[in-house]
Amino acid sequence: MILVLDFGGQYSQLIARRVRECRVFSEMIPFDTPVEEIRARNPEGIILSGGPNSVYEEGAPRVSPDLFDLGVPMLGICYGMQLMALVEGGEVGAVQIREYGRSDLVIKSHEGLFAGTPDAQKAWTSHGDAVFSVPEGFEITAETPSVPIIAFENPEQGRYGVQFHPEVRHTEYGMEVLKNFLYEACGCKPEWTPVNIITDAVERIREQVGDARAICGLSGGVDSATAAMLVHRAIGDSLTCVFVDHGLLRHNEAEQVVEAFGENSDVPLVHVDAAGRFLDKLAEVTDPEAKRKVIGEEFIRTFEEEAGKLEDAKFLVQGTLYSDVIESGTRDAARIKSHHNVGGLPEVMDLDLVEPLRNLFKDEVRVVAAELGMPERLVWRQPFPGPGLAIRVIGDVTAERLEILRKADAVLQDEIRNAGLYRELWQSFAVLPAIHSVGVMGDARTYAYPVVIRAVTSDDAMTADWARLPYDLLERMSNRIINEVSGVNRVALDITSKPPGTIEWE
Ligand code: XMP
Repeated sequence: MILVLDFGGQYSQLIARRVRECRVFSEMIPFDTPVEEIRARNPEGIILSGGPNSVYEEGAPRVSPDLFDLGVPMLGICYGMQLMALVEGGEVGAVQIREYGRSDLVIKSHEGLFAGTPDAQKAWTSHGDAVFSVPEGFEITAETPSVPIIAFENPEQGRYGVQFHPEVRHTEYGMEVLKNFLYEACGCKPEWTPVNIITDAVERIREQVGDARAICGLSGGVDSATAAMLVHRAIGDSLTCVFVDHGLLRHNEAEQVVEAFGENSDVPLVHVDAAGRFLDKLAEVTDPEAKRKVIGEEFIRTFEEEAGKLEDAKFLVQGTLYSDVIESGTRDAARIKSHHNVGGLPEVMDLDLVEPLRNLFKDEVRVVAAELGMPERLVWRQPFPGPGLAIRVIGDVTAERLEILRKADAVLQDEIRNAGLYRELWQSFAVLPAIHSVGVMGDARTYAYPVVIRAVTSDDAMTADWARLPYDLLERMSNRIINEVSGVNRVALDITSKPPGTIEWE
């Protein structure tokens, strides 16, 4: 197992994920996790991530020198490399020309991290500081035309540092560098697979839940279904699934969920029709964060009520993913929006959470789901946010506005599926803005809502690009939405990537 110490870098979790792609288990932990805790986890290697600070700034995150006495191979990336240089007695300073983006590496040693890679290679860097002199016993292994020490190593002590980011796709030989660290320096074997996630998760769940009962919030999506299957493997009949229909679902969705998870499933399913109570709570709530908090709290209160009907139900299973966690804000990362299952949770809750997927990205969950034998239709279902259409009906959430959006969205989905694009797109959906515009239909003036088409491609929802949908498809969608959905007289297309936009509008 490899631990990634997070110094607040943008790509920290990506490092852990790439390590897992190399089939070695990895988890990210805060940089100031006590050394004793790290020792107890018995990692085979430690990676120090990048971060936004300068190592010599006052208050910059540091690590205890004891970390370097653990006798575990270490790889420092960017800030992590500079920190390693300082602790080991090297020198770090500000470079005259900051490097952001592509750098041309010249490799000086092919013995360690760069084994099996060419002399010249492209790498992605993003830094204002660099190592000026290497600590004793370290060798410079790569340079760029403007930075003489872009990588160094001391194999005897198991110390490796790179100023560039091997974890980003733009770094040509990044995965080779990581593999050399993992397999050669740390002696890891590429043996970790989704099956291991399943075995580990099942064991951890058993430990956490013991003899108590758990309920699982099932939404119909792949995340909660996977979480439910894992928990079912762990505690069997002590699991009850609860599907809360909050009235913010898409056309026919509630029926589909009940059909898929209802009678034919091994796990009992309770179907709660909570549309009335959610809509009441959302009345006149227009602020996106306020909506998310209302929905997050209402979900929990509904689950608590259902748990109260079962004997000894103490746990709530959620299909929370890492992307929900990071977007909701952590101590070292900014809040972008409060995902209903993380930042939208109420402060006081009766149930303890069980979240077996909290460290994973969606595409990793899909691998686990497939391994668990879930049907393809479910594994490849596009993500749908817990707060549902409430965060796609901009402004006031009323039954009437929800119905307009539901109809427009059904047309859009139908066209996307007919065009064979459903699986290729990360998400495709309609948004209803809180404005009207003038139109002319049947020789008469209209003053009605526009509908916005949003379709994006993405690997993991952390970044996304707007999908280049064919014009004839857009034309069909526009015609059908305006003709079939009363209350809509205009269709627009969202051509914003993430960043700077987010995938959802609220
Ligand atoms: P954004 O809009 O932040 O969304 O780019 C990233 C991904 O997360 C989904 N999303 C949510 N999922 N609860 C969820 O379960 C939420 O509160 C939530 N907000 C956004 C969104 O659909 C996209 O896939």
